[in-house]
Amino acid sequence: MTTSPLAELSTHVSQLRDRIDGAQTLEQLLEDEVFIIGKRSILSTLQKSLGALAPEDRKDAGAQLQGARREVEGVFAQRRASLERAQRALAIEADRLDLGDVVVAQVALPLAVGHPGIVAATQRQLEDVFVAMGFTVADGPEVESDWYNFEALNIPPAHPARGMWDTFYVDLGEPETVVLRTHTSPTQIHLLEDAVAAGTLPIHSVMPGRCYRRDTPDARHLAAFHQIEGLVVDRGITFADLAGVIETFTHAYFGADISSRLRPAYFPFTEPSAEFEITCTICRGAGCRTCSQTGWIELGGCGMLDPAVFAAVGVDGREWSGFAFGFGIDRCAQMRHQIADMRALIDNDVRFLRQFS
Ligand code: PHE
Repeated sequence: MTTSPLAELSTHVSQLRDRIDGAQTLEQLLEDEVFIIGKRSILSTLQKSLGALAPEDRKDAGAQLQGARREVEGVFAQRRASLERAQRALAIEADRLDLGDVVVAQVALPLAVGHPGIVAATQRQLEDVFVAMGFTVADGPEVESDWYNFEALNIPPAHPARGMWDTFYVDLGEPETVVLRTHTSPTQIHLLEDAVAAGTLPIHSVMPGRCYRRDTPDARHLAAFHQIEGLVVDRGITFADLAGVIETFTHAYFGADISSRLRPAYFPFTEPSAEFEITCTICRGAGCRTCSQTGWIELGGCGMLDPAVFAAVGVDGREWSGFAFGFGIDRCAQMRHQIADMRALIDNDVRFLRQFS
């Protein structure tokens, strides 16, 4: 009688258990998997040798071997789970230490907390003043077609009035048909068109946003700057309403000792038109370099909506009248904070920017 191939089975099983217990890391255990329960395991070798047994012995031996395999696989799975748990705990521990490092770094080197820039803050303050006066706030695109930036505003192609705005053209479509808006006035056209289409006149809105002109920067000008446009269209609106809004705004935003004045001017989209000036806040009207010794600073333009604009957007000028104004947000920031040279706004010098937190 030959000895059963399973005579040593319990010894093999206990050796395999030792081998499993001996694996100190998950990596080590997985590397050993093929020898413990895989193709190169003693259990697989024994499985093959069962073929040599007499059929009546084979069934018993098979069941015995199957039991041994289940036992070893169970121990293997348990060890694997516990090594995985240990590895996860280690990773969490490592993360916790990382966090600790960040906290230490913050203590050692305090990081400054940012705040809105002076122009963004000024825009919000201006919006607040106008909202308090009953205006809504609207938005428009910075890239405009010639129609919105010029034609609908009664500035036909090749008209000399185009010289008032040194324009950046966008290289898109036909030459000189797409522009970076030179003012916020095109947003008036969008609002008017939308209100006509939806039948929602009247309009009482302000429209802040960035504008672009091919200007050489100096103490009062930037090539990329910000304006806030105002538009009121209602029944029975007169120039007195416009002057009242401008003066109310000036006192609300700059204080009771700063006044406004309107001087006759020309804009193609308003008639009559005016320039809107305020007392120079740097010299309080005495005359200085910033106001070119005049005591006044120009903030922007305004006027009663020209009938040609109403015609362009299909508003009946016999029923409706209105006014518009547009002025520089950067210029307001400059006057409010008495900044002699506007170029400081874009220098990005943190010593300057920190003063306006
Ligand atoms: N859009 C004009 C400018 O930037 C200002 C303006 C706005 C004038 C509204 C009249 C009415 O020069």
